[in-house]
Amino acid sequence: MPSHLKTALLAAGAGLYYVKARRERARVERLAAAALESLLNAIDANDPATGAHCRRVAAVSLILADACGLSDQARSSVERVALFHDVGKMHEALFDITHDDHALSAEERQQVKTHPQLGANVVAPLSMFYPDLGAGVLAHHERWDGTGYPRGLRGAEIPLAARIVAVADTFDAITHHRRYDMARSTPDAVEVIFAERGRQFDPDITDAFLSSAVQLQVCAAMQPFPPADAIAASKRQQTPVHTEVPDVAFRWHVAAAGKALSS
Ligand SMILES: [Fe+2]
Repeated sequence: MPSHLKTALLAAGAGLYYVKARRERARVERLAAAALESLLNAIDANDPATGAHCRRVAAVSLILADACGLSDQARSSVERVALFHDVGKMHEALFDITHDDHALSAEERQQVKTHPQLGANVVAPLSMFYPDLGAGVLAHHERWDGTGYPRGLRGAEIPLAARIVAVADTFDAITHHRRYDMARSTPDAVEVIFAERGRQFDPDITDAFLSSAVQLQVCAAMQPFPPADAIAASKRQQTPVHTEVPDVAFRWHVAAAGKALSS
């Protein structure tokens, strides 16, 4: 066979292999995204309050990720960690404790502290597709000063996604009614987060959160998703109110449903 024909055949074979590999990779990505979507649906179905909390935290975390100039890949990692950071609270051992409106006993507080590990265990099978997810979920209650849990990581030892989610999680916990704590105002949340700069939170991420640009974006993003007590008040006053949660995972729907998996 003439050498130029051999070269052309080899090039055609390599091209075909490349196209096939790309198609297979896209298929695997859609399967993994569908698995995440199903897990998110399971959270919403079993515990809508936690599902809504996680989606709000994800919306704020994405604003912070953009303010910190993260790459698309790192941004997606932040989104996933935010969406599943509290999945461990749905564990049978913790569900009653975390869903009852009584003040926690010391023993119950210790039990609740197992939820990052329980959550990491839930998402562990997805580590092949999302290697950062488990570590992020595990570390979302670590503190910048090293006094957090479960491992007492300090500073940059804490995965970046977990440091971002920690700020967004605290903001949401303060501004939305949870358990026996009534929701407080955004300025209250900002004050708490500022006070924890360099203690609980990464100073750079705190500065990004406190910037006026981020504050405006967060307020705009959260406006359609008011705290439960604000919803109750507007119902009493018969004013219209939106009660949906941010659909931050919409790109997964597109990824999973865009094409048949067999294509
Ligand atoms: Fe948590």
